[in-house]
Amino acid sequence: MRVTTRDVQRFKTQGERFPVLTAYDFPTARLVEEAGVPVILVGDSLGQVVLGHSSTIPVTMDVMLHHTAAVVRGTERAMVIADMPFLSYNLSDEQALQNAGRFLQEAGAQAVKLEGGVRVAETVRRVTQAGIPVMGHIGLTPQSVNQIGGYRIQGKTEAEAVALMDDAIALQQAGAYSVVLELVPDELAKAVTERLDVPTVGIGAGPHCDGQVQVVHDLLGFGTSYIPKHARRFADVGDVIRDAVARYAGEVRSGDFPNGG
Ligand code: KIV
Repeated sequence: MRVTTRDVQRFKTQGERFPVLTAYDFPTARLVEEAGVPVILVGDSLGQVVLGHSSTIPVTMDVMLHHTAAVVRGTERAMVIADMPFLSYNLSDEQALQNAGRFLQEAGAQAVKLEGGVRVAETVRRVTQAGIPVMGHIGLTPQSVNQIGGYRIQGKTEAEAVALMDDAIALQQAGAYSVVLELVPDELAKAVTERLDVPTVGIGAGPHCDGQVQVVHDLLGFGTSYIPKHARRFADVGDVIRDAVARYAGEVRSGDFPNGG
C-alpha cells in the first residue's frame, strides 16, 4: 500500500518531520524510495535539472506524463506527486481537471501539485472535489518567474506576508492536503505552519515547516553547477560518474576493456 494523504496528515498531527524529494526517472525513484523517502515529487524542475532549460516554462504535459509514469514504475510504497506544468491548469477549471486526471489515469500518480494561492483556489476545489489530491505551492512560484522578476525570497514586506498567509488559508479551504512554501522567510513559514491544519513542506523556508522538499540533483551534486543557498550537498555523484567514465574511456583506448580487467 502506498503512502496516502492520511499518512501525510498524520506526520503533522504526530509532529513527525518528513522528507520529500524530487525524482524524474525509474532508477532514481527506486533509490529514493529504498532510502526511505515517503513522498516523491516529479517536479517540473526537471525542465532545468534534466532537460537543460533555463526555467520550468518549456515543460509540457507530455513531458511530465512521461517522467511521472517512469517514477511510478520505480516505486511501490512512496506517494508520487506530479507537478502540473505551466499553463496546464490556468485556462479553465475543466482544463485543470482533465490534465490532473491524466496524471492519475495515464501515469499512475497519487496526487498533483500546482502553483498559486487565492488565484487558483477555485481550481483546487474543483480538482479535489473530483477525488484528486492537490498539493499547493506558494511563495516563489517558478512558473511565474517572468512576472516575479527572478528567483528571490517572497513575503518580505508586511503586505506580502499577509497575502501569503491568505494564499495558504485559501488553499487549505479549497481542499489542498498540503502546501509547499518556497523561498519564504523562516518566521513567516513558521506562522503559516502553525496556522494551517494541513502540513507545510518547505524549500528555502527554514526549519519550522512540517516537511522539507529538495531537488535530488542538488543534494547529489549530479550535473548542477549552481547550488541554491537552501540546498546541501550530501554526495558528489558528478565526481563518481566522471571518474568511472574516464576510466572506461581510458581502458577502451588502452585495450584493457573489454579483454582485460
Ligand atoms: O519543481 C519542483 O521540483 C518543485 C519543488 C522544488 C517544490 O516545485
